[in-house]
Amino acid sequence: MTTHLAPPTARRGGAAVRHLLSAADLEGLGLPRLLDRAQLLRTDRATIAPSRPLAGRQVALLFEKPSLRTRVSFEVAVTSLGGHAIALGPDEVGLGRRESAADVARNLSRLVDAVVLRTFAHDTLVEMAAAASIPVVNALTDAEHPCQALADLLTLRQRFGHLAGVRLAYVGDGNNVAHSLMLAGALAGLDLRVATPPGYAPDPDVVATARALGERHRAWISLGTDPVEAVTGADAVYTDVWTSMGREAEANERRARFAGFEVNESMLTHAATHVVALHCMPAHRGEEISAAVLDGPRSLALEQAENRRYVQEAVLIELLATR
Ligand code: CP
Ligand code: NVA
Repeated sequence: MTTHLAPPTARRGGAAVRHLLSAADLEGLGLPRLLDRAQLLRTDRATIAPSRPLAGRQVALLFEKPSLRTRVSFEVAVTSLGGHAIALGPDEVGLGRRESAADVARNLSRLVDAVVLRTFAHDTLVEMAAAASIPVVNALTDAEHPCQALADLLTLRQRFGHLAGVRLAYVGDGNNVAHSLMLAGALAGLDLRVATPPGYAPDPDVVATARALGERHRAWISLGTDPVEAVTGADAVYTDVWTSMGREAEANERRARFAGFEVNESMLTHAATHVVALHCMPAHRGEEISAAVLDGPRSLALEQAENRRYVQEAVLIELLATR
């Protein structure tokens, strides 16, 4: 994969249009500032959103795959900041079928102030951003889920008080969530240990980008196939579904290949005693995570879900209200 980085920015009114397509884009958008703003939006809202910073702004939410958290948290984010959200499902727009992503982008650019897109191929998102003169935000593609990673960093920072050096093990599929977590984790200076079954490793281009970012931000990123090795001494353990949306036909084969990768009480005995468990949800209890861990006292899954709203509010303010 070579297209996860931002395309050339369009210009609107002389100013470059900024997008959030990849977690790597969080560097240019000011990751520390976004996290600080999101934290204020959660705990001290009056200081940052006394007026309605998105008043008069229209945001299209275009979802080609199912969603609970992303769809709802974006609509709550937009409306609670004074803006208006227009949710569009796959059958309404027919992205790439009824008309091209570029034409959808050009038309939406004349009608709304930003587009939030969940789609399959990452190239569709990139095509839309390249043709748009308004910000485009990635709400999940097959390659990345940057808004999730931003919420995950906020959740870790709330728990540990800092991010640099926090030891995070990711156990499971080297998928969109893993990709964005690696890129965002690299920017945050995490000590990130990824364990995937053979054949399910993260995309080598993403790994190379994450390592390059990590060198500049003092992150450590290791890859392997042994979940116990990754989890040993970890402050936090993260997992995601073994079968992502769009790959349902592979579910049985994946269940077999991912044997031994369930994040359960036994696996967590190798982690630090204060270990916390993360999952972006939806979750499959008894597959990638046990019910005891997901529903137990170490789970931060619902904190992650709530933080989706605040980080997305912070992103929307950055893209729409600060310039
Ligand atoms: N974690 C997440 O993105 O959830 P949804 O697919 O429900 O939006
Ligand atoms: N990797 C999962 C994440 C869901 C939020 C998927 O793409 O289905």
